[in-house]
Amino acid sequence: MMTNRVSDPWDVQAADFPKDGSAGDKLTFLLNYAVLAPSGHNTQPWLFRSKKDFVEVYADRTAALPVVDPMDRELIISCGAALYNLRVAIRYFGYMDLVELLPDPNKPDLLARVRLGHAHAPTADEQALFNAIPKRRTNRSPYEDRPLPDTLLEDLKLAAQQEGAWLYLADHDGVRSLLADLIAEGDRLQWANAEYRRELASWTHPNRSLRRDGIPGYAQGVSDLASYAGPLVIRTFDLGNGQAAQNRDLVNGSPALVVLGTQRDGTEEWLACGQALQRVLLRARAAGVWASYLNQPCQVSELRLRLSHILDQVGFPHIILRLGYGPEVRPTPRRPLDDVMFESLD
Ligand SMILES: Cc1cc2nc3c(=O)[nH]c(=O)nc-3n(C[C@H](O)[C@H](O)[C@H](O)COP(=O)(O)O)c2cc1C
Repeated sequence: MMTNRVSDPWDVQAADFPKDGSAGDKLTFLLNYAVLAPSGHNTQPWLFRSKKDFVEVYADRTAALPVVDPMDRELIISCGAALYNLRVAIRYFGYMDLVELLPDPNKPDLLARVRLGHAHAPTADEQALFNAIPKRRTNRSPYEDRPLPDTLLEDLKLAAQQEGAWLYLADHDGVRSLLADLIAEGDRLQWANAEYRRELASWTHPNRSLRRDGIPGYAQGVSDLASYAGPLVIRTFDLGNGQAAQNRDLVNGSPALVVLGTQRDGTEEWLACGQALQRVLLRARAAGVWASYLNQPCQVSELRLRLSHILDQVGFPHIILRLGYGPEVRPTPRRPLDDVMFESLD
């Protein structure tokens, strides 16, 4: 099979789409866009299998984060985000996306089987979402004191709903300050746990590391030199109070704070939430808006319960994002497709 793989997925060029290749060749090429999705600690917890006329998306549970994500919820959400990129890319290149979710009850890690559907002319909206895929990053800088347009906020709500999730906008000062308290409490609880720090340290790398996964120091605003000490510092010291204060400032200074959730809490809903997350992130990015995560209250179970009570929404919160305008930031590494594809005999 012709794979047309690029060594760094960020370098993928639309002009290289194998328009005369088989459906399998086309879908395999489009996986270069799937892997540009965000993932918890940049674990890239996905695997793909390519056949003659479909590709399959699998959860790679060897990339799990047992401390911060013991149920693999964020792992499945990350795979949902990758699946959404694949769907957008399929539409951009002129096909409907045919997706079977969880197609085999005997294979719980097989999350989706994806085919090219009939010919489809991409809408302006689909083109904008596709063009935002390589421009999206998690941007942890402070954002400008500039409100987001109400129309964009409405679009983001709709984007989440269209993928089967809800988006709650924390637009009252009261709710925002309760969320800021929960985030700060989450920071203190997580950092006080040595296992949390060890897990985070093992996925944090110096800026010049050759690793193609994990979080380089620069993504946290750390200089080249300081980034060498990052993993040791994280593993050794409880930085909870400092993180809590920093995140409180970020929350207070961010033009928008939103929570994504679903009515129920299972694999199907996590996959929906991942697709909703990516649709929201791409819609925001297409409008020049960055996002970053403050998920601590969703990651600590007793805080998640309190968060649910604060929100005027039925169901389960999964992701907290702040949104706003800010400076450009560098992309984080991605593993090449060869590292995330596997063959099997059946
Ligand atoms: C489900 C999920 C949960 C995440 N949780 C956090 C988080 O709690 N804190 C954070 O700083 N980033 C979080 N991230 C962002 C990832 O660290 C980021 O996507 C990854 O490092 C890759 O970088 P990129 O988004 O710039 O491509 C999360 C991402 C996903 C998809």
